Amino acid sequence: MDQFDPAKFIEEKVDWLRREIAGNAITALSGGVDSSVTTVLGFKAIGDRLKAVFLEDGFMRIGESKRIVEIFSKLGLKVEVYDVQNEFIAALEGIRDAEEKRKVFRETFYRVFSRIAKSLKAEIVLQGTIAADVVETKGGVKTQHNVLEQIGINPLERYGFKVLEPLKELYKNQVRELAKVLKLPDEVVYRRPFPGPGLSIRIVGEVTREKLDIIKRATLIVDEELTDIKCFQAFPVLLEGKATGLSKNGSRKYGYMVALRVVESEDAMIAKYVKLDWGRLEKVRDRIIDEIPEVARVLYDITDKPPATIEFE
Ligand code: XMP
Repeated sequence: MDQFDPAKFIEEKVDWLRREIAGNAITALSGGVDSSVTTVLGFKAIGDRLKAVFLEDGFMRIGESKRIVEIFSKLGLKVEVYDVQNEFIAALEGIRDAEEKRKVFRETFYRVFSRIAKSLKAEIVLQGTIAADVVETKGGVKTQHNVLEQIGINPLERYGFKVLEPLKELYKNQVRELAKVLKLPDEVVYRRPFPGPGLSIRIVGEVTREKLDIIKRATLIVDEELTDIKCFQAFPVLLEGKATGLSKNGSRKYGYMVALRVVESEDAMIAKYVKLDWGRLEKVRDRIIDEIPEVARVLYDITDKPPATIEFE
């Protein structure tokens, strides 16, 4: 394979987008490196005929929309935030099965985008799909929320817009190279991947508002405590079921179980668990137990991929 040349790739894709987009387009921006690079390529190609749309879908991390708006405004680019969390949470509430959650998330996601595209008179949606998303869906491991073609859906017929995916053949490390060349800030270039369906798939089993609130608080703690750890991803997962523990006053409590997942990986296809320092683990454990009284246990996942996957769902 030819050596990957980020500058040449950018030039070619910007040209391609310019040729493909005659009118307006929107970009589905989550703030991760893939969608951020896609968004910048889109702006380079068609300027303000592109609208960057961030969906506050209820499964994003605390403070995320504000952060993304700030990062992009420093680059001179405007991001529109659409608060659609009630619609998403209502759609997912009560669903237990992981693939069913992805399916419902996907349908809600495209339905919302269809509405937004219509209102902005856009016929094209740019997405930051990368090779791993496509490969995993084709392999039948997990149906990523952003892959339509592989599951036989024609977005134009079903949702009224065409999807363009300029990064479809790339892997994560190549996308990071593009992000560097495009002068995105380091916090975007080296951002750890976050799944499209967000925290909905970090609650094992049924999604409820209570569980969502717990996983959001736990995620904030893990992000604060483990930002400097060299790893591909570091996140908590809210497990199904409860366990016995003791509350601060010594009485019995029956609380949730949180698993921590910290992995090293190049491209998410294979991953190794990270041998975190015990002191670090204890700090995270203490904060979760102290600050989230609904939680009774914190566990550490030492499974690699394979045999496990990175996410629990
Ligand atoms: P797994 O769990 O399959 O994850 O080992 C591989 C990588 O993909 C992310 N992931 C997803 N990303 N939609 C996404 O956009 C999804 O449904 C999804 N499921 C997993 C995961 O965080 C990891 O980086």
